[in-house]
Amino acid sequence: MRLLVLGGTAFLGRHVTTAALDRGHEVATFTRGVSGDPPEGARPLHGDRDDPDALPAALGRWRPDLVVDTSCRTRAAARNAAAVLGGVAGYAFVSSLNAYRNWPPGPVGAEDGEPTWDSEDDAYGPNKAFAERVIGTAVGDGFLTARAGLVVGPYDYVYRLGWWLARTARGGRVVVPDEGMDQPIALVDARDLAGWLVALAERGQGGAVNATGPAGMTTLAGLLDVCRDVTGGDVEWVRVPEADLEAAGVQPWQHLPLWLPQATARTAWDVDTSRARELGLAARPLAASVADTWAWQQTDTRPRYSPMGLPAPGLPADLEAALLAGR
Ligand SMILES: NC(=O)c1ccc[n+]([C@@H]2O[C@H](COP(=O)([O-])OP(=O)(O)OC[C@H]3O[C@@H](n4cnc5c(N)ncnc54)[C@H](OP(=O)(O)O)[C@@H]3O)[C@@H](O)[C@H]2O)c1
Repeated sequence: MRLLVLGGTAFLGRHVTTAALDRGHEVATFTRGVSGDPPEGARPLHGDRDDPDALPAALGRWRPDLVVDTSCRTRAAARNAAAVLGGVAGYAFVSSLNAYRNWPPGPVGAEDGEPTWDSEDDAYGPNKAFAERVIGTAVGDGFLTARAGLVVGPYDYVYRLGWWLARTARGGRVVVPDEGMDQPIALVDARDLAGWLVALAERGQGGAVNATGPAGMTTLAGLLDVCRDVTGGDVEWVRVPEADLEAAGVQPWQHLPLWLPQATARTAWDVDTSRARELGLAARPLAASVADTWAWQQTDTRPRYSPMGLPAPGLPADLEAALLAGR
């Protein structure tokens, strides 16, 4: 079938493009062309999806049967997609757990019982919820919204897992959050998510799905030990109490990626993924996700790509030195 990836050149979308080609689809990607080219075999279409004229102009007479949308972050982008693509048979939209009004801190129960944002705020979560409504109304039964949790894997330009890999590879004394180490966490490999999105679009699956790994599939300590094993770093974990991290100005998630203070973490990582499991979202072994991400990271020569102007995650060297001093 003719499958359009909105996005498709950077991380998750890139894997969607590959999965769609592997499944025999005729694939086009639609991007501004800033993040690079799609995998070979896909037809690159260019334009800014915030511009209402861009997508129709790029598509011309080529009409997709299916859409996987990984790049929607604004209300204009949602409206423009809804105006042009409402007639497709299957539309898999990549949303976020942030679409839920109560997350974080959560917990997140079954999809139908959880309210999503309905405010006018021009912010990530409310924009995702708006897009779900607008595109969902235009497409109808074949609209799937995958509310993704933490996504990892090769081509992850956000570098949250990537920072831990680089840090453990360097070895030595590594600051970790004492109370946070035993916290159950969950993540989804971009390749598992990508193949599943394409398969669900093919069959016109509709509805909302919490799209992440099973709650408690590992802990932060479990993940960091895999990072150490995969990189071969000679690491000593230095467990710093949460109160000391906060007093020193360590920003959760940003300075120590994947770390949230316990008051938030206990519920934020508690996400019901029963529907995702029923619909066949796979979870490959964590060690494979980490090893493949590390293999890619060592060969990645692309300039850092930051579509949302995100600052690079990681613990600044002076903060790390201050936290390690005297321990
Ligand atoms: N990473 C996570 O942990 C996580 C968690 C929850 C949800 N998500 C969601 O998962 C999705 C994954 O994103 P990704 O970055 O991996 O997807 P991607 O499709 O691989 O990359 C983003 C794509 O959007 C294109 N793009 C950006 N702005 C555009 C615009 N104005 N017009 C047209 N194209 C535009 C980029 O290309 P150009 O720059 O060349 O335009 C790029 O191809 C996002 O929707 C995100 O909200 C991610």
